[in-house]
Parts: sequence; structure tokens; C-alpha cells
Amino acid sequence: MKTIIEPFRIKVVEPIRMTTREERQRKIAEAEYNPFRLKAEDVLIDLLTDSGTGAMSTHQWAGVMEGDESYAGARSFFRFEASVKSVFGHKHVIPTHQGRASERLLCAAVVKPGDVIPGNTHFDTTRANIEASHAEAVDLPIPEARDPENLHPFKGNMDLQKLEDLLNKEHHRVPFVLITATNNSGGGQPVSMANLREAKKVCDAFGVPLFLDAARFAENAYFIKLREPGYQDKTPREIAQEMFSYTDGALMSMKKDAFGNIGGVISLNSDAWAEKIRTLLILTEGFVTYGGLAGRDLEALAIGLEEVLEEDYLRYRIASTAYVGQHLDELGVPLLKPFGGHAIYLDGRRFCQHLPDEQLPGWALSVALYEHAGIRACEIGNVMFGKKLPDGSWQWPALDLVRLAIPRRVYTQSHMDYVVEAIGELYQQRQSIPGLEFVYRPDVLPHFSARFRLRS
Ligand code: F0G
Repeated sequence: MKTIIEPFRIKVVEPIRMTTREERQRKIAEAEYNPFRLKAEDVLIDLLTDSGTGAMSTHQWAGVMEGDESYAGARSFFRFEASVKSVFGHKHVIPTHQGRASERLLCAAVVKPGDVIPGNTHFDTTRANIEASHAEAVDLPIPEARDPENLHPFKGNMDLQKLEDLLNKEHHRVPFVLITATNNSGGGQPVSMANLREAKKVCDAFGVPLFLDAARFAENAYFIKLREPGYQDKTPREIAQEMFSYTDGALMSMKKDAFGNIGGVISLNSDAWAEKIRTLLILTEGFVTYGGLAGRDLEALAIGLEEVLEEDYLRYRIASTAYVGQHLDELGVPLLKPFGGHAIYLDGRRFCQHLPDEQLPGWALSVALYEHAGIRACEIGNVMFGKKLPDGSWQWPALDLVRLAIPRRVYTQSHMDYVVEAIGELYQQRQSIPGLEFVYRPDVLPHFSARFRLRS
């Protein structure tokens, strides 16, 4: 069969509400043109993030009832630990409440002022946590990653020559290297097994540990199965296990590929680092067997981690994301290619060619998409990564993208047909999309709380 179906049926539904264009124009103006400031109930199809927005399975909900809420040594922790270890394979498993808590704890435990943390492309909270430790987050993506049209199958790869050069000069300042798979800020692009294997060799030569940001490790594993010779007959679990075997540790936001509404983990081999992290964990997150989560969350995550590696699920997941990309591509909409695992990225600059960078084309497109069809998307571009230089001018990032992140197991094909139709219509009227300017821009993670006005 050519048709790939959702490998589940729907038992509980959550109503969503249509709004009128006039209502949406008012709502987004009240939110000062920042979609993060909208009320979710005023959004029809919410593609802001795939994080914490997935639908849990019947097994996960049953697990919720099994949650052991004991303060110390809860059964749910041991189930969680066993589930993580069976895939990640490291010695220590430390639960946290979400990905950025893992980042903060690892940075607080091992990063010193003046350190350098190389990565393929650090996610924004990772970068912010590194910088909050007065260290530098350095992105070393392969050159192909900077070209939105380049069809390289593993655009998430790290430039290993650049990594080696950096370690040659600076290895004493590098506490660890962090590879993000899939590479979210770079377009949800996968990292190849060969790249991980070689990165590990480079790191080993300098005695520097290699960590994985594993938020979307299962989607990455499936891309390896589809695209990397030698992996066609392996299961996603086997591929994931091999990916982790090249690492000394991993951070994971379990709100993505563990189907959690909340949750995270740090998994690592070093006894000394685990000790430091657990001490900090107790200080701010909670005891070592719950790390800021309820026992019921640990149960749901343990089960989610098993479900995400089911091949029927991953086949559907990757195909249904590509479905959106292919149909938008047929309408001529400028996109980042190849299509990522969790999201389709619109190219804001090419979509809104009439808007210069200062008028924030990607952000303006995300606002127009809400006004036009009630769809909420997330800019990953000029607002998120733009830098104001001391002379008052701006440095803009290489790509100004708008991400349509697809929550896991939530929307059906007809929801996505609506999204494609709406974006196609907007593309026909793109000249009418107005530019924006900042009213307020905080220095750290500006996109969450910035405010804007329309350019007159
Ligand atoms: N690492 C990656 C690759 C991420 O995509 C995220 C979150 C984090 C770390 C931080 O995890 O949110 O649990 O604290 N990404 C979300 C997104 C927010 O929309 O892409 P968190």
C-alpha cells in the first residue's frame, strides 16, 4: 500500500474553535504581534512547538494511574531508569523536569567561565544556559547546512575538521562537545551515524567527552534507517543504541521523542559528574529519584520512550511531516530542504521578499499566518537570533525561518490539508504582508516576550 495511515485510532477528542479574521486581527494586535502572547484557545491549529504537545497513548495513561508518588525510591523511578538505560546505555540516569533543566544542571556542574562548548547548532535554551555560565557556545555545522536548497541527507552533521581545529587550539577550555540530533535550529535535520562515530574519535583523541542532545533521537534514528547505507535492516532501537554508544552522556527534553507533556533526563557515564549534578538537582529540582517530576510523569515517559521506537509510528511520523512539505513545495512555497523530522520550515526571507531584514520577514509571516487562518507557527530567525551590535546596527542570522512544528499524534491529514491550503493562499497574497518593528526586545531569549508594532 502507498497510503501511510496514522497507526492509532482516536479515543478522546479535544474541541478546537474557529475564529473570524476580525477577531484574530484584534487578538494578535492585543498580543502586540507576538504569537507567544496569544491565548491558546484563540488558535485553531497550533504549530508553535512539538514540545510537550503530543498525545499520550492508552498505555501511557494507564501508566499514569500506576505512578508511585513516594518521595524516595519510587517504583516509577526504577521503571524510568530501566527504560532510559535500555536505549541510552549510560551508567547514571538523572530525571529532570525538562530539557533546559538538564542543560542548566550540566552547565552549573562542569562549565567554567571562559570555556567553549562546540556543537553542530546549539538550541536556543542550550546556548542561553552556556552563556549564563559565562562560556561560549560555538556552532560548527557542515557548510551544506547553510543552504536551504541543498539536499544533503544529513544536514545536521557537524563539521569535524572545524571541530578538530578548535580542539587542537582550545581543548583545555572544552568541557564537552554537544551534538543535537536532530538539529532543531538547523531545520530538524538528522546527524549521520558516521558523523557521530567520527566525532567520537576526534573527541577521544583530545580526551573530551561527547554528549548528545537527544530531544529527537528516534526521528534521527529513523532518518539513518532511511538514508544511511547499512542500516536498512536494523530496528530503530538498534540504531538508537548505536548512536548513544558513541557518546559519554546525553541530555534530553522528554517533551519531544518520549511523548511527555513534561520531563527531561541527564544520562551519563562519569561518576564524578553525576555526583555533582545530583547535588545540584537536590538543591533546585528535587530528590534524585524524581528530579522535579511526579511519579506518574516518570511512568508515562518510560512507556513513551518505548513507543517512540516503534517502526510503524516512525514511518508515519516522518512521512506525515514530509507530506506537508511536499504539498507546499508543489505550490511553490519557499521551504528548507530536505524536510525535517518534526517540522517544516518556511523560508521567511524568500516568502516575504518585499520586506528587508529590519522588518523581520519571518516573524511578519508568522503573524500573517495567524491572521489569515488561525495557525500559530514559530519564527526561528531574525527575532530569535538577531544581534544588535555596539554601533547600533544589526547582525542577522544566515536563515530567517518560520517553523511549522507538528505535535506528535495530534493532528490528522485534513488538519494538514487545511494548513497547506492556507499557506498556499497566503503565498499568493504575500506582497500584502506588513513588516514589523520592535517595541520591546529583551536581551535573553527575546522571542518569548518581545513586543512589536506594524510598520506604517
Ligand atoms: N534541546 C532541543 C534540541 C530542543 O528542541 C529543546 C526544546 C530543548 C533542548 C529544551 O528543552 O523545552 O524541555 O526545556 N525545544 C522546544 C521547541 C522548546 O519548540 O523546539 P525544554
